[in-house]
Amino acid sequence: MAVEIKTAAEIEAIRVSSQMAAETLLLVGELIRAKMTTDDINRIVHEDTIRRGAVPSPLNYRGFPKSVCTSVNDIVCHGIPSGQILQNGDIINVDVTTFFGGFHGDTSAMFYIGTPSPDARHVTEVARRALELGIAEVRDGARLGDIGAAIQEFVESEKCSVVRDFVGHGIGRRFHEPPEVKHYGRRGQGDRLRTGMVFTIEPMVNLGRFEVDVDPNDKWTVRTADGSLSAQFEHTIAVTKTGCDVLTRRPKQLQSSETVAALFR
Ligand code: MF3
Ligand code: CO
Ligand code: CO
Repeated sequence: MAVEIKTAAEIEAIRVSSQMAAETLLLVGELIRAKMTTDDINRIVHEDTIRRGAVPSPLNYRGFPKSVCTSVNDIVCHGIPSGQILQNGDIINVDVTTFFGGFHGDTSAMFYIGTPSPDARHVTEVARRALELGIAEVRDGARLGDIGAAIQEFVESEKCSVVRDFVGHGIGRRFHEPPEVKHYGRRGQGDRLRTGMVFTIEPMVNLGRFEVDVDPNDKWTVRTADGSLSAQFEHTIAVTKTGCDVLTRRPKQLQSSETVAALFR
């Protein structure tokens, strides 16, 4: 299926749901700390989303049972909130998607619980910079492969790996729509980006090898096959003539909080 080109009005509507997702993620950043459970994070996201008159997109999406994905340590993505207690030294990705006014907005960030190990800090910082390098490639006329190549070259130069089995995606009236945005690839290859396309970039970076396994019991939780740490950041982006508009860019820098070190601008 072809990639939809959104109108200016549609992009403004996606910006509204995207900014809600960004603000909810910022709230998580202000509250997250050791001894909380991932179910506590789910409750914060669920209640803040409902309070805005919006709907948490993950809830019941293809059978997903909660309102947010919480992916701790070796969990790559799609972690299901549970009674798991966050411990000093854990790293966690919180992935918020908000549906409002007929459109979805999707963003995620890593949080440090207490003091992270040097390895945890490294994989998190590589994922954060990888997303920014991917974003820097986006403009009318560039190609999808330019995004993937920029991310892959940087991540591998840092002795980490890029997950292949999960990709960024078009977003709008549907949570996931064309195109697939691979976080690896070759410059000059893939479809051309055109003004009005809206998609996510959300590189999953492993400290070890890129292979992942899906939990055979819950069919959702994705873990690194080698047990190494994994990190991810995500933004929803609209292509413009000269670059792009990061629709989920957070309105302010997070105020200093000892539990939160990695939330990016
Ligand atoms: N938010 C995830 C993404 O970035 C998708 C989660 S699907 C869910 O695409 F069902 F697990 F919520
Ligand atoms: Co997401
Ligand atoms: Co996404």
